[in-house]
Amino acid sequence: MRYNKLGKSDLNVSSIGLGTWAMGNDFWGPGDERGYLKAIHAGLDHGINLIDTAPVYGDGNAEKIVGKAIKGKRDQVVLATKTGIHRENDTIVRDLSPARIRKEIEASLKRLEVDFIDLYQIHWPDPGTPMEDSLNQLVKIRKEGKFRFLGVSNFNVAQLKEASSIAPVVSLQPHFSLLERDIEKEIMPWCIENEIGILSYGSLGGGILTGKFKEKPEFGEGDHRDKFYKYFEEPVWGKVQQLLTVLKDLADTHNKAISHVVLSWTVQQAGISTALVGARNEAQAISNALAGDWQLAQQELKRIDVAYREIFG
Ligand SMILES: NC(=O)c1ccc[n+]([C@@H]2O[C@H](COP(=O)([O-])OP(=O)(O)OC[C@H]3O[C@@H](n4cnc5c(N)ncnc54)[C@H](OP(=O)(O)O)[C@@H]3O)[C@@H](O)[C@H]2O)c1
Repeated sequence: MRYNKLGKSDLNVSSIGLGTWAMGNDFWGPGDERGYLKAIHAGLDHGINLIDTAPVYGDGNAEKIVGKAIKGKRDQVVLATKTGIHRENDTIVRDLSPARIRKEIEASLKRLEVDFIDLYQIHWPDPGTPMEDSLNQLVKIRKEGKFRFLGVSNFNVAQLKEASSIAPVVSLQPHFSLLERDIEKEIMPWCIENEIGILSYGSLGGGILTGKFKEKPEFGEGDHRDKFYKYFEEPVWGKVQQLLTVLKDLADTHNKAISHVVLSWTVQQAGISTALVGARNEAQAISNALAGDWQLAQQELKRIDVAYREIFG
């Protein structure tokens, strides 16, 4: 596993990070807690140190599982969670009011069973609250020692600039993968120039970039991943399949899994500190962690980019 310094923080994060959205059991269909605990332990045993979670994943469920998993292992973990969105019945509400942030962090610390969080991130911007109010509250809470470093997620450059002018922001968590490359235009260059570490999310496109779906999948009850990762309908589905043939060819050359090629491509992009990857079980966590052990050659990275441009235009 390779490790990278996260932006201007002193956090050294594994190039593959473990995401826990699916462990909330509210968006990806059901799963079993024992399997999730094993996945987290296997990830840690194979060099992953960054675990990313959020209160909204299963309305606290994912944080509780992470808390259970890291008991006795706290010093092995760079613990990242978020604030700013929560569930009210079936609706997701954005709320970065100072009172809500206070309530959220106290609840997260309790569920995670820790005294402090390493990376506390704004999950989504809240247009209903002046950014200054939210950030001043976060600065205050940081001074109390409840978290070490501040990050943001789903921010554009204007929002990053505004936030950074009020508080020290060390990282951005954007949607970025071989299939989701919008940040390459403005956001990524700005982050590189300003030493903001990037934690990419959706690195496997919700699983499609493993190549395991040979036909368009029918997801089970409660599994809504295709609402978020919009790669499972034509014309995108067909294009992804074309790209997967190129990725498989490269994977076969190295006797690796397609996901290893995808994750290596991701972490080898300039500015990426960690590629966050969700895992539902031990085998997935181990496989994903092993992707942090090797790298593609420059001409292979180029071949992937050329194929991407030919297929997606
Ligand atoms: N900040 C944000 O707004 C935001 C948004 C989305 C995600 N995130 C974070 O980023 C993390 C990663 O993204 P994600 O979990 O949404 O998507 P992802 O990493 O692209 O896909 C994860 C899913 O792919 C499948 N998978 C993973 N490894 C595999 C392997 N080796 N072989 C076969 N299948 C495998 C698993 O689902 P199945 O086994 O069920 O197929 C797993 O749940 C999240 O968990 C979360 O922490 C943040």
